[in-house]
Amino acid sequence: MNSIRLKTAIGQLAAAVVLLGAAYPVAAQQGDIGKGSALFATHCSECHSMKEGKNKKGPSLFATLGSKAAQREGFAYSDALRNSQLVWNAETLSRYIANPKTAVPGGKMKYDGLDSASERNDLIAYLVNPVR
Ligand code: HEC
Repeated sequence: MNSIRLKTAIGQLAAAVVLLGAAYPVAAQQGDIGKGSALFATHCSECHSMKEGKNKKGPSLFATLGSKAAQREGFAYSDALRNSQLVWNAETLSRYIANPKTAVPGGKMKYDGLDSASERNDLIAYLVNPVR
């Protein structure tokens, strides 16, 4: 790799880190996208797809971070989530994944919760950047 290409690559990497940091200041430092991808496959993919518009038992999680809860078209959300006024960021999402039933009482996500904060960080890093 010549030095110009190397500099471009470093510049792109820096830009990606800045972007990720803006969207998700906490987990950007710690979250491992590869681990997050594996966690998503085991814990979430039964009900969720990362593809835009693809709802399964749960709504598509395409571009979830930064959006208001319960906005996906064609998905019948619970009233509880629809009225929750939640905006998905690192904190609200982490709390929801840790225990959906206490975070959104009356919601219909039948998932017991992911106890490990570092695993939640990995998962959220993947949700922000699901390329791999
Ligand atoms: C058994 C199925 C199931 C599993 C497993 C599951 N979910 Fe869900 N999820 C749902 C359903 C159903 C909803 C809609 C909840 C409601 O309307 O109250 C939902 C909603 C969500 C939402 C809110 C989406 C929006 O549009 O506001 C997020 C974020 C989410 N799930 C993330 C996850 C993650 C991350 C995992 C894995 C750790 C996971 N879910 C595991 C079924 C599931």
